Amino acid sequence: MINVLFVCLGNICRSPTAEGVFRGLVQKADLTEHIRIDSAGTHAFHIGAEPDRRAQAEAKRRGNDISHLRGRQAKTDDFTNFDYVLAMDSENYRNLLSICPADGTDKLHMFLDFAPHLNRQDVPDPYYEGGFDLVYDMIEEAAKGLLADIQDKHL
Ligand code: 4NP
Repeated sequence: MINVLFVCLGNICRSPTAEGVFRGLVQKADLTEHIRIDSAGTHAFHIGAEPDRRAQAEAKRRGNDISHLRGRQAKTDDFTNFDYVLAMDSENYRNLLSICPADGTDKLHMFLDFAPHLNRQDVPDPYYEGGFDLVYDMIEEAAKGLLADIQDKHL
């Protein structure tokens, strides 16, 4: 089993979207028994909250239901329980690094490293600025690259 954790700041916009998109790809590839997926936020603002209405609406528009997901905060144990910990932006990466055990840093990645053709480092935070459609597109690209990486290295 390969365990994958998507992490953003609030766990209500980007990382639940990534969780839903990636789950869709994994289902399509018939790999649900091989890949476990979760998401979390580096901050505690939205623990127990459902995804932002705008993230839910964009996912629904693309045929993906993320309404059942609930926010939780990332923790040090996540680096024991997951094989891939994927930061949506460089601030998330720094926050994760600060709770990451010394032997866990190999598991920590920038999510967009799996979509090098996008030529960007960060999935922009849409909470204040909007742009949920563009964020969804970026996440889809990186999710495809991530699945290819996992298939290549582990399955
Ligand atoms: P996310 O977006 O990190 O993609 O879930 C945000 C959600 C909430 C806040 C900031 C970003 N906030 O400041 O409450």
